[in-house]
Amino acid sequence: MIRIEKVCKAYGNGEEKLEVLKDISLTVDAGEFITIIGPSGSGKSTLLHTVGGLEEISSGQIFLDNEPIHQLKDSQLAKIRLKKIGFIFQQFQLLSSATALENVMMPMLNFFGKKDTRKKAEKALTRVGLSHRMNHLPSKLSGGEQQRVAIARALVTNPKLILADEPTGNLDSTNGENIISLLERIHQEDGVTIVLITHDKEIAYRADRVIHFLDGKIVGEEVLKVR
Ligand SMILES: Nc1ncnc2c1ncn2[C@@H]1O[C@H](COP(=O)(O)OP(=O)(O)O)[C@@H](O)[C@H]1O
Ligand SMILES: [Mg+2]
Repeated sequence: MIRIEKVCKAYGNGEEKLEVLKDISLTVDAGEFITIIGPSGSGKSTLLHTVGGLEEISSGQIFLDNEPIHQLKDSQLAKIRLKKIGFIFQQFQLLSSATALENVMMPMLNFFGKKDTRKKAEKALTRVGLSHRMNHLPSKLSGGEQQRVAIARALVTNPKLILADEPTGNLDSTNGENIISLLERIHQEDGVTIVLITHDKEIAYRADRVIHFLDGKIVGEEVLKVR
């Protein structure tokens, strides 16, 4: 599904140059659930953004389903993101002036008819247990509910890959647990590939494989479940 080969990434140049990813190579199989754990500032989010085509790399190669995403134009990347990838962020990233339903409809609006879009969005919200909250604004929802809206938004396009950047970072342990169980269920039911970044050891060790990240490098890897 994902093949990362000798990827380096730096921000700035000259004196200001900051090397954030240092020769990263990593392969993720289709249907795998991996977690990346490492301290703050070690480059985890940057790595996830490069895989999603949101950030350019300085050198190396990244393939998604054998497509060289490091070589694609923005318009091509946007298409791939829409077709294949669902993003989930720590800060939920919902539009505050839109209802839960409207937020979930957002990624599809330009591509499907309104009626179809609405149906798919309602189905996704029902799946994450929010059928009774569809017309609420994000400010009227708890953190855990907001993250479930964000998960519904990520799922609504039927992605093969979910990239989750500390999705429980802003939640208490109960809500965090609900979010992780939900992602586990989605992984099992849909066979999606999940790459999840976390600080939390307990969460990290629920994946098929844990990647340890430190100072822009992969410093260890543990296979927990043989699939
Ligand atoms: N757009 C940017 N411009 C300059 N430096 C950045 C940018 N984004 C991240 N960084 C720096 O890159 C390093 C890695 O950041 P990040 O990937 O967010 O780490 P993590 O997600 O592991 O906390 C940090 O030192 C951060 O300050
Ligand atoms: Mg981060």
